[in-house]
Amino acid sequence: MTRLVVDTDTASDDAVALLLAARTPGVTIEAITTVAGNVPLPQATRNALLTLEIAGAAEVPVHAGCERPLLRSPQTAQHVHGDDGMSDAPLPEPTGAARSEHAVDALLRLACDHGADLTLVTLGPLTNLAAALLRDRNLLGRFRHTYCMAGAADARGNITATAEFNVWADPEAAAIVCDAATPDTVTWIGWDASRRDAVMTPERQRRLRALGTPLALFADRINRAVDTFATTVTGLDGYDLPDPLAMAVALEPGLIQQAEEARVHVATGGEARGQLLVDRRGTAAPPNLRLVRRVDTEGFQRMLLNACRGEAA
Ligand code: BDR
Ligand code: CA
Repeated sequence: MTRLVVDTDTASDDAVALLLAARTPGVTIEAITTVAGNVPLPQATRNALLTLEIAGAAEVPVHAGCERPLLRSPQTAQHVHGDDGMSDAPLPEPTGAARSEHAVDALLRLACDHGADLTLVTLGPLTNLAAALLRDRNLLGRFRHTYCMAGAADARGNITATAEFNVWADPEAAAIVCDAATPDTVTWIGWDASRRDAVMTPERQRRLRALGTPLALFADRINRAVDTFATTVTGLDGYDLPDPLAMAVALEPGLIQQAEEARVHVATGGEARGQLLVDRRGTAAPPNLRLVRRVDTEGFQRMLLNACRGEAA
């Protein structure tokens, strides 16, 4: 049994990651915490609530968190995911609402009360986790493990030449998490892995749609804007699914085909904002992160299709 806490700036690929978690047997989502990122915080929270309802997991508590990065102004990725983060597809409003407890308080409480049994998965800027770490510096050691969709270990960025969005949006938060991490406590799955191993090619999109279930059609529809962006602007043959890949690895670590431990520092200033400085010399300080570099593509596709196969409750 995997018990999850998921921190998310819920837009289209975050939503697919939530579906994956909600519909994989043996997985319980204990709580969702939301953060500003792809879309402003209220929209991310609405998207998380709606996705849980569509996945038949409306009972999962959702806690809204930080509405801006620690030091910077908020920057969204609505040019990639659509104004509502879900490709501006006509979607109903969620019927539920977020709990009154702030996401950072919820993370601290859950880690203290049940951390050893909980896997934390972060899918957005690391603001909530960093804010929690500032209040409890041992936080990462309390969770069973923390998996973050963050960074690009090959320094090929998606928001600047060298930075990945989640790290770039709140680089100070990412630096705080990085500095507190050890390879035993934290694994990062970067955009480099998703762009290689989690691409929804036209054929894979067709296979997803062919399931014909409400979940499959929802997952497909909310990613139309990303598909257009990825194919026309970045030249990919389809679109990639970074957050679902990170979720899949958290649920099924056996999917990892290649990983490395390295000393990673987050650049926070100037042109290099958000870039990971990965020191592989072996002469630096000990490694602080495990970086996933390759994931089993077919295994990931199988998990995704299985999760979308069932009817929504
Ligand atoms: C990350 O940024 C967002 O666009 C996605 O949701 C993912 O978390 C990829 O860089
Ligand atoms: Ca995300």
